[in-house]
Parts: sequence; structure tokens; C-alpha cells
Amino acid sequence: MFRLVGLLIVVSCVRAIDKACPYKPTDIIFCVDGSGSEGQTNFNKQLQFVQNFTSQFEIGPNNTRVSLITFANTAHNEFYLNTFQNKTQLLDRIGNTHYPNGETNTHVALNFVRGSTLSSRHGGGRNVSAIVIVLTDGRSTEPTLLEWSAAQLKKNPLVTVVAIGIGRGVDQKELALIATDSNHTFHVSSFDALHSIETDLTDATCEACKNVYTDICFVLDSSGSEGSTNFHKQLEFVNMVVNEFKVDSDGHARVCVATFDTSGRVDLHLSSYDTKEALMQNVLKIPYRNGETMTNIGMDRARRELMTRQNNTKIMIVLTDGRSTEPSQTQHTADITHRNGIDTYAIGIGHHVDSSELEIIASDKDHVYSVNNFDQLDGIHQDLVDRICSTAKQYVPTTTTTTTTTTTTTLPPTTTKAACGLKPADIVFVLDSSDSEGPENFRKELEFVNSFASQFSIGVNNVQFSVVTFSSDVRNDFFFNKYNSRNAVLHAIRNIEYMGQGTNTSGALNFVRTESLEPANGARTNSSKFVIVITDGRSDSPDETKQEASQLHTKAEVISIGIGPKVDRGELSAIASNHRVVQVDSFALLNTIKNQLTDLACETGN
Ligand SMILES: *[C@@H]1O[C@H](CO)[C@@H](O)[C@H](O)[C@H]1NC(C)=O
Ligand SMILES: *[C@@H]1O[C@H](CO)[C@@H](O)[C@H](O)[C@H]1NC(C)=O
Ligand SMILES: *[C@@H]1O[C@H](CO)[C@@H](O)[C@H](O)[C@H]1NC(C)=O
Ligand SMILES: *[C@@H]1O[C@H](CO)[C@@H](O)[C@H](O)[C@H]1NC(C)=O
Ligand SMILES: *[C@@H]1O[C@H](CO)[C@@H](O)[C@H](O)[C@H]1NC(C)=O
Ligand SMILES: *[C@@H]1O[C@H](CO)[C@@H](O)[C@H](O)[C@H]1NC(C)=O
Ligand SMILES: *[C@@H]1O[C@H](CO)[C@@H](O)[C@H](O)[C@H]1NC(C)=O
Ligand SMILES: *[C@@H]1O[C@H](CO)[C@@H](O)[C@H](O)[C@H]1NC(C)=O
Repeated sequence: MFRLVGLLIVVSCVRAIDKACPYKPTDIIFCVDGSGSEGQTNFNKQLQFVQNFTSQFEIGPNNTRVSLITFANTAHNEFYLNTFQNKTQLLDRIGNTHYPNGETNTHVALNFVRGSTLSSRHGGGRNVSAIVIVLTDGRSTEPTLLEWSAAQLKKNPLVTVVAIGIGRGVDQKELALIATDSNHTFHVSSFDALHSIETDLTDATCEACKNVYTDICFVLDSSGSEGSTNFHKQLEFVNMVVNEFKVDSDGHARVCVATFDTSGRVDLHLSSYDTKEALMQNVLKIPYRNGETMTNIGMDRARRELMTRQNNTKIMIVLTDGRSTEPSQTQHTADITHRNGIDTYAIGIGHHVDSSELEIIASDKDHVYSVNNFDQLDGIHQDLVDRICSTAKQYVPTTTTTTTTTTTTTLPPTTTKAACGLKPADIVFVLDSSDSEGPENFRKELEFVNSFASQFSIGVNNVQFSVVTFSSDVRNDFFFNKYNSRNAVLHAIRNIEYMGQGTNTSGALNFVRTESLEPANGARTNSSKFVIVITDGRSDSPDETKQEASQLHTKAEVISIGIGPKVDRGELSAIASNHRVVQVDSFALLNTIKNQLTDLACETGN
């Protein structure tokens, strides 16, 4: 658990950027042990450490602020968070701190932090994370009181407590008690070894998202409408986000940056830099180019870059201030990007953005951000970081490649393989659009159909799709022979409109049997036929539904999908042939059954 850092530490490299958390305002509060066991010399070494550590940060009311407390018999406030705004003066003051000498009343220091340092009358209460760093060489005089004080302090959700134990006299249990968790506990063998934890401590202080493996590609708009000042703000935004991740030679977070204008390119590749400093410096060197808005090319370059690596979470963040020059190409590229399993965010800046295009670019509506101007970008960075971080934490690398989807393909859609060894298949989706669904759930239904259909090669020799929508009425959205490219089919699915009203399931099944599956409407004689019925309720005329279903079974394999609690399970069974029933609890969970449905269709088709 504890890291005992020895004396033999490789000399740390010189930092090229001396600001450790350049984009993340933080309040750092040092509690330094001034008890009698230390002696003046060791006390001074602690101060030197505090100085060294502090010197990495940009100090100021909107950046990092530092406070220092010493403790022995009691707590001594040396200075509050809002005392210094000038780094030179701050560092000087740290060096001039008086050695108090006395007992080790650590708890008093923690109480002081909670009651005074963090109170608004002393400049606390800024809505940023506060890191309390406790340095001690021994055991506290009042362990029970310490336990209580530490627990009280840690109740503040903005506070993280770091415990640094120095030397042999340290009680490791006590360090654990003080610190937020074992990742914030350090133990060094001597005062001279303090410098060895500086980098780790910096990381523990700065990085919001540690120990996740993720590949992040930014796609930046370098078109003429931006201007170089705004382009530069995008670069700073990249750094702001990057700053919260661990960038190292182990490849925790890898970053790429692609830009687009009349063309597109990757300016910074995923494996270019393995220190954050080098990465950030080179991000800022990316040139502004000026030209059209070929968003699709930028996205495609980033997508290809992300697909060069197999087993990290893949994130794409697209920034734009306008509408793309080639919307249909953008849509096409976005489709492939989503199919590749890339979690895609779209950030629109300003008022010229086409918000429907943002939704097309993004993985879903929740992945869209809009800000009024470039200066507002920093307002969304934290939220974005949190989301990427939780996505990356959930990600479990797969060691097998037996998935039935084509998420790892980098090929253009015309040559994408079918999801399974389907012989030619004709698949009709029958979608419930009754008023019990509501337009929003219907949209989820469409997204599901879209995502399912996107797995297949579509065409007269492969898979054909048709969609029928029903409420009280039955509507043919398109027959098998209407479209012969995947793009066209996916586009058509997205544009299906919600109907409302009743649940005329029997009418729909009748229509499928007598119209959709007819050769005149594109059904092939050499194909397997599937009908996939999605419903959230019970039909208006159950008897007729059963009759229609059994007639339909003679022409096609029918799979029924029931969503939510109102579904009539018996009716689902009756609709399906051979018990091919799939149930999900909610519309939001539909995507979880995609593979199951693919398997069902594949098994039958073979
Ligand atoms: C800090 O930020 C506030 C609000 O954004 C601004 O008004 C102020 O000028 C900034 N102060 C400095 C020193 O940059
Ligand atoms: C900080 O203080 C030092 C010495 O007091 C002074 O020389 C320097 O100009 C100050 N810096 C700023 C940015 O105010
Ligand atoms: C504090 O900051 C967080 C995240 O930046 C924000 O969501 C929250 O609304 C802020 N709270 C206050 C009281 O300003
Ligand atoms: C420490 O960090 C690791 C890696 O992020 C994490 O798995 C672990 O849960 C953390 N430990 C605690 C006690 O939070
Ligand atoms: C502080 O930094 C100086 C110069 O880098 C180094 O020699 C010294 O060991 C550091 N001291 C501590 C206590 O970290
Ligand atoms: C990740 O993928 C690379 C090949 O792309 C492979 O060499 C490496 O072992 C994989 N790592 C894990 C943890 O699966
Ligand atoms: C159900 O749909 C069929 C076919 O469109 C239609 O003939 C029938 O009248 C509808 N039933 C009801 C109750 O609306
Ligand atoms: C299947 O039938 C269609 C016409 O119904 C034909 O165009 C196609 O070539 C056939 N495919 C195969 C693989 O036989």
C-alpha cells in the first residue's frame, strides 16, 4: 500500500513548463509538522519541499492559491489562501516560516483548515478542489481526536487530503487515517528524500482522471471563419482537457489532434509525446491554416488514427464554429466513426453552427455541447473530462475478437462485411409508434434500428431492409427495393416520423405479409426472410394479431422485441416464431440487445 521511496532516486528531469496545473485552479493547503522530534534542520527541509512544490504552480486568484499552517502544540496560520498573489513574495515567505517546536497535535491543524482556512472570511470557499497536504515525521499526540478531525475535513467533497510521512517514526495507520485514500498516502525514508515524491504528488494534486487508458483525438476547425485567435483558443482548450489526464510512456492517455479546413490532416499523432509538457507545448504549435469547412476530412483522419490502436477507449472531440462544406460526407464519416465504436463529442462554438449537424457528428444528443463563443470553452471542459473519465473507467479491454459487430473495421461501408455469415437476408422492421411510446422513445427505437442495420452490407446480393411503422394506421416507410446502399437506408431510418395513437399490430403484420414480403416490392426468392417487431404494449385486437402472426410465420422468421413493463408477454410469444422473443426493461436499454438480436438472426439464417 505504502510507497517507501528510497534515497536512490533518479534525478528528475527539468520541467519545460514550470506551471504544474496550468489550466486547473486549485487551492493547496500545507500543514507542516513543527514538533520537537524534527529539529530545525529537518523542519527547514520541509519548508524547502513546500517551496519547490509551490514553485511549479502559477499563483493567482484565478489560478493556484497556497496556504501554509504549521502545527506543534497548536496550529499556526502562516498565511491564508488569499494572502499572496505574487509568487516571489509567497516563496520568500515560506522560507521565513518560524519553527514552533512542541507536541504533535495534528488534529488541531486539520480543524484549523476546516474552520478557518477554508472559510469564506479567509478567502476559502472558492468552488475549486482543495488539496490539503499534511507533512509529518511521527505519531500524533491525540490519535482519537485526529481520526475525528480528519473525517470531518474529508466530508467536504471538494477536499482531498494527502498525507506524507517522513522517516522511520511514522505510524502508517495514522497516515491512512489522515489521507483521502491510499493513493494519497506517501512515505519517504528521510527528509532528504522528500524531493523524490514531488512528481507523484504533483500528479496526485493535478490530475482529475488518473490511471485510465484512453485514446483521445481532437478534431479542430481551422477554417476561414475562425481566425487565428479563436483557433488558438481551441488549442488551449485541448490542453485544458489533456491536463487532467495522465500522459506517460505507459500510454495512459494518448492524444491526437487533427485539423480541417479545405483539407484535413493529423497534426499530432497518438504516440508523439509521452510527457504532458512536451505534448502541451506541441499542441500550441499547431498552425492555423484557413480555408473551407471540410469537417468530414478532419474526422476521417482522426478516426483512422484512433483505429490504429486496438484496446483503449476511443474518444473523438470535434470542435467547429460553422456548418460543414459537405454535410452528406460529414454524416457519412460520422456514421463510420460511430460504427467503429468511437465515443464522439461535438462542440459547437458561436451562432453559425448547424445544431442538427452537431447531433449527426456526436454519438448521441448527450454528446453535444454548444457555447456562445470561444471564451466559454473552459466552462465545459470539466464536464467533458468527467464524462470521458467515466467512459474510460468503464471500459474493459477485450482480449477476444469474436464480436459480431464490425466495430473495428476501418473499411468504407461499401466493403464492410456482413455481421454474420448471413446468406442474403430480407429484414422487415415493424415499429410500434403508438401514443404510449411518445416521440422520444420512438426516436430511441429508430436509433436502435439504425445501429442494427448499420452492421450489414446492404444491397441486392447482401442484406435488404424494409420498415413498416404502425399506430392506428399502418404506414410503409420503405420497401426492400427502395434503397440499395447502406447510407440511403440509414438515412431513411433516421427520418422516419412518429405517428401517435393506437396499436394496430394486426394491421401491420397483415401488411408485411401481403405487401412488404412480396417479390413485386423487392423481396428476393433466394433470401432468408426476417420480420422484427418492436412494441411497448399490447395490440388493440389480440385475437387478430395472433391470427395474422401465425399466417406470417409461414413466410418469415418473426422475432418480437418487447420494451418496458406494459408489454403483454403472451402476445409477444404469439407474434414470434419459435419463441424468438427478446425483452428489455426500457428504451434506453435497447442497444444492449443488439448482439443478441444479431445472433438470433444469424442462427436462423444459416
Ligand atoms: C479572475 O477572474 C475574474 C472573473 O473571471 C476576473 O474578473 C478577474 O479579472 C480575474 N483576475 C485576474 C487577476 O486575472
Ligand atoms: C512580485 O514581488 C516582487 C518583489 O516584491 C516584485 O519585484 C515583482 O515585480 C512582483 N511581481 C508581480 C507580478 O507583481
Ligand atoms: C461549482 O463548480 C461545479 C463544477 O465546476 C459546478 O457544477 C457547480 O455548480 C459550482 N457550484 C457553485 C455553488 O458555484
Ligand atoms: C487508487 O488508484 C487506483 C488506480 O486508479 C484505483 O484502482 C484504486 O481504487 C484507488 N484506490 C483507492 C483506495 O481509491
Ligand atoms: C528543492 O529543489 C532543489 C533544486 O531542484 C533540490 O536540490 C532540493 O533537493 C529540493 N529540496 C527538497 C526538499 O525537495
Ligand atoms: C493492446 O493491443 C496491442 C496491439 O494493438 C497489444 O500488443 C497489447 O498487448 C494489447 N494490450 C492489452 C492490455 O491487451
Ligand atoms: C388496422 O390497419 C389495417 C390496415 O391498414 C386497417 O385496414 C384497419 O382498419 C386498422 N384497424 C383499426 C382498428 O384501425
Ligand atoms: C438473389 O436474387 C436476386 C433477385 O431476386 C438477384 O439479383 C441476386 O443476384 C441473387 N443473389 C444470389 C446470391 O443469388
